[in-house]
Amino acid sequence: MARVLAIESSCDETAAAVVDGLRVRSNVVASQIEIHAQFGGVVPELASRHHLDAITSVIRAAIEQAGLEPTRLGQQLDALAVTDSPGLVGALLVGVQAARGLALATGLPLHGVHHMQGHLFSAFIGDDRRDPEPFAPHLALLVSGGHTELVHVRGFGDYEILGATRDDAAGEAFDKVGKLLGLSYPGGPIIDKLAAAGNPSAVAFPRAMINSNDLDFSFAGLKTAVAVHLEREGQPNSRAQLEDLCASFQAAVVDVLVAKTCTARRARGCDRVHLVGGVAANAGLRARFEQVAASEGFRLVAAPLRYCGDNAAMIAAAAAAQVEAGWTARVDVQSSLAIDEVGQEPEAAVT
Ligand code: KG4
Ligand code: ZN
Repeated sequence: MARVLAIESSCDETAAAVVDGLRVRSNVVASQIEIHAQFGGVVPELASRHHLDAITSVIRAAIEQAGLEPTRLGQQLDALAVTDSPGLVGALLVGVQAARGLALATGLPLHGVHHMQGHLFSAFIGDDRRDPEPFAPHLALLVSGGHTELVHVRGFGDYEILGATRDDAAGEAFDKVGKLLGLSYPGGPIIDKLAAAGNPSAVAFPRAMINSNDLDFSFAGLKTAVAVHLEREGQPNSRAQLEDLCASFQAAVVDVLVAKTCTARRARGCDRVHLVGGVAANAGLRARFEQVAASEGFRLVAAPLRYCGDNAAMIAAAAAAQVEAGWTARVDVQSSLAIDEVGQEPEAAVT
């Protein structure tokens, strides 16, 4: 079992963690949400600067909380890891440079990890509160702020994208609708809470592409439908109206995500479905998937809430699997790289 220290800085969380294989020994996350909330979204330049401010103390905390000695990392760890794709390039570079410094100081191999492969591992990792899940093939619904993908995980490093969003990601739709409703950034968790008390049938929003013959998604039209509704009816003038609007919007997103996932599962004969990524924290989505799993008889693994959002424990666990599978230690920073390209040898690798 490989012991790995990983760094994650692809977007707006500065994170570091130590794992023994799939077991988390420490997991430290410094969120920049308050900084970006003032601007209604992530400002890349500010993200890089704040990663730079936070990264040393976050790494030090992860080392200490794992009970490791900063001066003996070369003996106490098997490898280092860092998210190298996809993400904001300036933000990625901060984590990569810190990781390279550590690699130089310790002599440890440094593995680049694809952020989405990290999210896949969030469903497998364990800690004091939950035993690790042994890695197994499955269908993953990967829903985050930048991605909405159905991925058939046939084995470790063997990923097939069955469908993806053609425009906005699910999390992006939540955040944009949050903005339209005057909620603070990110809108996803706030809409989730408001929706819990609302009537999902109050407003009939479109379920885009729910009957299309493919496994793709589209959420831009739904956001426009909410904007048109607000133009026509005005902003909700009571808490109850706001809750109804949030519940109706969320139901439209959940319906499409559940329907497409079930179609993909049946088509591929997968007996387990994983929910991962920031939007996998959504209570309405988790509840609907639990119902469907019970009625259709498949195993559902939703990533624990503490690992849905960006963190380095999932990156470290993915790296430990890379080490155990004998992957070459290399780092290749790319702002966009599809998950089905992971595991292939990039031509212009920089180590
Ligand atoms: O995976 P993540 O932390 O970062 C990316 O890799 O993008 O996902 C962040 C996204 C944001 O769009 C946020 O609004 C959304 O996840 N999110 C939620 C919830 N919690 C976070 N969306 C819906 N319901 C939630 N409870
Ligand atoms: Zn993410």
